[in-house]
Amino acid sequence: MTEAKPGTAPQPIFRKDYRRPDYTIDRVDLRFELGENFTTVHASLAVRRMHDTPAGAPLVLDGENLVLKRVAIDGRELPADHYVAGPTSLTIADPGAAFTLTTVVEIRPQDNLELSGLYRSSGNFCTQCEAEGFRRITYFLDRPDVMARYSVVVEADRARYPVLLANGNRVETGELDGGRHFARWDDPFPKPCYLFALVAGDLRCHDGEFVTRSGRTVRLEIWVEPDNIDRCAHALRSLQAAMRWDEDTFGREYDLDIYMIVAVSDFNMGAMENKGLNIFNAKYVLARPDTATDDDYDGIESVIAHEYFHNWTGNRVTCRDWFQLTLKEGLTVFRDRLFSADMGSPAVARIGDVLALRTNQFAEDSGPMAHPIRPESYIEMNNFYTTTVYEKGAEVIGMMRTLLGAAGFRRGMDLYFERHDGQAVTCDDFRAALADANGVDLEQFGRWYSQVGTPVVRARGDYDAAARAYTLTLEQAPPRGRDGGELLHIPVAVGLLGPDGPLALRLSEETAASGDTRVLELRERSRSFRFEDVPAAPVASLLRGFSAPVELEVERSDADLARLMAADPDEFSRWDAGQELARRVLLRLAGDVEAGRELALDREFVAACARILGDERFDGSLKALALTLPNERLLGQQQQVVAVDALHAARQFAVRALARALREPLLAVYKATAPQGPYRIERAEVDRRKLRNLALGYLVALGEPDLIRLAVEQFELSDNMTDSEAALACLIDHGGPERDSALARFHARWHKDPLVLDKWFALQAVSTHPDTLDRVLALADHPDFNLLNPNRARSLLGAFGLRNQHQFHRQDGRGHALVADKVLALDPHNPQVAARLVAAFNPWRRFDAARQQSMRAQLERIAAQPGLSKSVREIVDRALA
Ligand code: ARG
Ligand code: ZN
Repeated sequence: MTEAKPGTAPQPIFRKDYRRPDYTIDRVDLRFELGENFTTVHASLAVRRMHDTPAGAPLVLDGENLVLKRVAIDGRELPADHYVAGPTSLTIADPGAAFTLTTVVEIRPQDNLELSGLYRSSGNFCTQCEAEGFRRITYFLDRPDVMARYSVVVEADRARYPVLLANGNRVETGELDGGRHFARWDDPFPKPCYLFALVAGDLRCHDGEFVTRSGRTVRLEIWVEPDNIDRCAHALRSLQAAMRWDEDTFGREYDLDIYMIVAVSDFNMGAMENKGLNIFNAKYVLARPDTATDDDYDGIESVIAHEYFHNWTGNRVTCRDWFQLTLKEGLTVFRDRLFSADMGSPAVARIGDVLALRTNQFAEDSGPMAHPIRPESYIEMNNFYTTTVYEKGAEVIGMMRTLLGAAGFRRGMDLYFERHDGQAVTCDDFRAALADANGVDLEQFGRWYSQVGTPVVRARGDYDAAARAYTLTLEQAPPRGRDGGELLHIPVAVGLLGPDGPLALRLSEETAASGDTRVLELRERSRSFRFEDVPAAPVASLLRGFSAPVELEVERSDADLARLMAADPDEFSRWDAGQELARRVLLRLAGDVEAGRELALDREFVAACARILGDERFDGSLKALALTLPNERLLGQQQQVVAVDALHAARQFAVRALARALREPLLAVYKATAPQGPYRIERAEVDRRKLRNLALGYLVALGEPDLIRLAVEQFELSDNMTDSEAALACLIDHGGPERDSALARFHARWHKDPLVLDKWFALQAVSTHPDTLDRVLALADHPDFNLLNPNRARSLLGAFGLRNQHQFHRQDGRGHALVADKVLALDPHNPQVAARLVAAFNPWRRFDAARQQSMRAQLERIAAQPGLSKSVREIVDRALA
């Protein structure tokens, strides 16, 4: 466990202190003797002193929770006075310039509840080494700039563990005494140890193949627990699609003869890109129509692709140090987004990404954990696998592609691979490759890597009727509540809407009008752009496609927004204008709630919603997104002090008022979108289900018995999880006997199916029903609840603490106490997951005095806990600082 000794505060590590290692490791030979009580790890490392390291410098290896049994150099036992084995290191005095270091250690995977290093899940052995888990397996230079070739022997009982996997190619298998067997795996590609993986267990394989563009046949294997073998088809198809796409889009071909994916039930994160042997949270592999929703299918497609894309962006070219994490994560998220956009609807994909960015990353950027996409320091690296590093990191890559164009970006990527294949590099190396390949200057742009917070862009338009010219002035300002900061290079995509629709644009320096979008580059504090031949005062469509991760401030009337909502040719911007309008309406309603005024839903807004419902240009998914009101967390971000109860009341009111006003068209939509046959996972069908379930949500909110019956019937009759889950969610919000019987039926049918049961917990945790807290308290004691399983812990507590603003932040503080209790209970076993959960308290300063007081008290209670992990300690200390 990663806890500090009493009295020694964990020390931060700084980016500026990076030093190359004194020694490196070229070859690694490992032998694992897997056992029920302990596992023995034999390691032989070919170590070499770096040429500029002074002779005699000690070799300091990382190690954690290892019981050292033997240490030898070049086959000779090392005398006791030549080494020191401490709690986190093995130091060898003056080991020589080049030698083989052999260690033998014992570890206890069955007790490893942190799920970092070698651990057990459902009786199988598996590993998770990123970021610093390999040191919990053997003594090593556990840092990504040490890259070695690995040969790995796995030995285990044959009956219990018939399948033995590691990275690379299986080169030998055989029988051993006592019912044991072994397999040897060689990985020809040098890799950092965080990409090491091993799996041993009773697993079944769903296999397939892929023929690369150079004609090599790659064997594809998806390994799952026996019961899940009928849920792998979508993952395999996604993998094949991703492999083809990376060849077509980036010219990247897979490099080994086999690619394996293993699904495990206990996993701290989403998935891991270990070379040739990805290990996945089962949630991102397993799908069958009756167990997985349309969104689950999408999630699988994108995570499978993400991990596959890491083979080039992360594995072949890796990070020099962990401060560079966004080098591989921001870039790989960006790549998986491009892929998802190509596979489905680009607008729907973009809207989903921006919604998540604004809800989660903007919140992180304005709270105590705010950090640049390339952090300057950390105490626990696992705490920096954040939405900032990943999602804002992807936005930063996306801006460079916007500036360079698709072809220029591709040229830059090609140069990046040409220069750095086989190396561990920095974000600056990546930017230099893009700049050099295109002969452009990305120096100012590089500030996005050190900038903290969400920048503000202010826009103002002036129409000169006599000159028929429209001047758009853009100004950049530091994030709210922060001052100073250097000027950024910001691409702002702009269009103009005239009375008859989008205008062909001509900037004053251009000779002829063309196209309806311009990417304006703002590099100064403020700059004006003049558009010519503008027939009448236009409405500006700003930040099309969300061209930069900024907050936009611009004065626009509700009528302007309604016009954009109806006529902007950019589908993203149409949605965005509608959300802005909805946000205003809801914030005004919240004000009315607080002032005790009577509530009435804006008529113009209702009319705009009605138009969307009937608009032929929108597909069902876009309609559903456009007609979903902004969530309470997003609304709270717009307030000086989050008005928890008023926001909730306002949103609940608006949902019902909209449902009442649109009752007939919604009912017509619901009827017209009834399924015509068995479930199919295809675009038109997904669109149909999205729209139908949106309509159902509004209708059930009216609380009329006939409408509730629609949900009951859908719940009972549907052949797929998308429709049953949607119906169940409505019934849970509604409450009453229909809720209880639906929950009981769902539980009876699915309680042996962990991923589906997670939904049962999560739906109850995010409910808007006023009794939610009491139910969540009871669920935390339910026999099927298991705090130690990360998916289950997240499904109840993560959903409640991070997604249910109204119930978590109850005035009486009981929501806060519940989550704090569970953080304290979980921390001694799994600090990584506990640290994610405790982040629910990060925004505490944004609430009223009573709620601040309540959250602060919980944070202080956690901080006072003796033996708190450094993971949770870092989050809590930053929150209280
Ligand atoms: N590299 C993994 C990914 O694909 C994430 C691993 C994170 N692991 C951790 N312990 N923080 O994004
Ligand atoms: Zn990743």
